[in-house]
Amino acid sequence: MSEGKEPWGNLVLVEFDEGIAWVTMSRPEKRNAMSPALNEEMLRTVIALATDDRCKVLVLTGAGESFSAGMDLKEYFRETDDAPDTVVLAVRRTAEEWQWRRLRDYPKPTIAMVNGWCFGGAFTPLVACDLAIAAEEAVFGLSEINWGILPAGNVTKAAIETMGYRNALYYAMTGETFDGRKAAEMGLVNEAVPRARLRERTRELAKVLLEKNQTVLRGTKLAMKRVRYMDWEVAADYLYAKLGEALHFGAGENRANAMKAFLDDKTFKPGIEHFKETK
Ligand code: COA
Repeated sequence: MSEGKEPWGNLVLVEFDEGIAWVTMSRPEKRNAMSPALNEEMLRTVIALATDDRCKVLVLTGAGESFSAGMDLKEYFRETDDAPDTVVLAVRRTAEEWQWRRLRDYPKPTIAMVNGWCFGGAFTPLVACDLAIAAEEAVFGLSEINWGILPAGNVTKAAIETMGYRNALYYAMTGETFDGRKAAEMGLVNEAVPRARLRERTRELAKVLLEKNQTVLRGTKLAMKRVRYMDWEVAADYLYAKLGEALHFGAGENRANAMKAFLDDKTFKPGIEHFKETK
């Protein structure tokens, strides 16, 4: 990458649209299988966007008919079958680094928009994103069992965290596929919509996130992820500390305005707003 040049553009496309960064894995001729080169570019991209003001919400998707067909079976496996150490080291340095370590704790809200095929390794970035919307027609599969490999790269962890114990075991052990509706029913994605509405619905959701106080939003999402593994005492202390931190970093004004609108001016009732929207 030359100095000052964007780190994306070859296998990763980025489009900025009023605070939303649409990040597209783009190897459509290989169904966006994640090759070493694509993983390198994705890593550089997520690092760059973390501090890029044009990106306030990151949406991850795939070009063409596929979200991603998972790890590149040729470049990561067949071509390197005689050098397993090389594969593991390469995966750990780039793939794992962006697919869950960076993305899971991303400082900005993230949405996976699953437009089509989503297999194996693609479950990791899918689950690492905070929220996920799938096309009803999208097809998912934990297909590793067919290739003589385990759902590694933290795919197993991603599946067990979101799909439920029996479902995760069933799909990992059989390799059967399922559609976007089933993914939503299991909790792997938040919702499934017809493919024709996918981008519009994702945009709507991103807009909701864009309107929130970004400091509080960051604290909220990271707290959800951390608290999951804490006991109640530690969680309570952590949450009070994060609450204080959010106020310190600029959430105070937002809080005062919202409280005033509700308690004094009577112009804001979040419960009723929500009721209106869902009627
Ligand atoms: N790794 C490497 N190459 C892949 C790939 C992967 N995970 N998934 C697809 N490709 C390649 C195919 O080999 C083919 O390459 P070619 O044109 O050089 O022959 C190209 O992408 C198109 O794939 P094709 O199977 O012809 O497309 P399709 O639309 O008929 O089917 C899928 C799409 C995703 C259903 C099918 O490609 C598939 O099952 N891929 C494997 C998915 C998988 O099990 N991933 C888990 C990896 S751990």
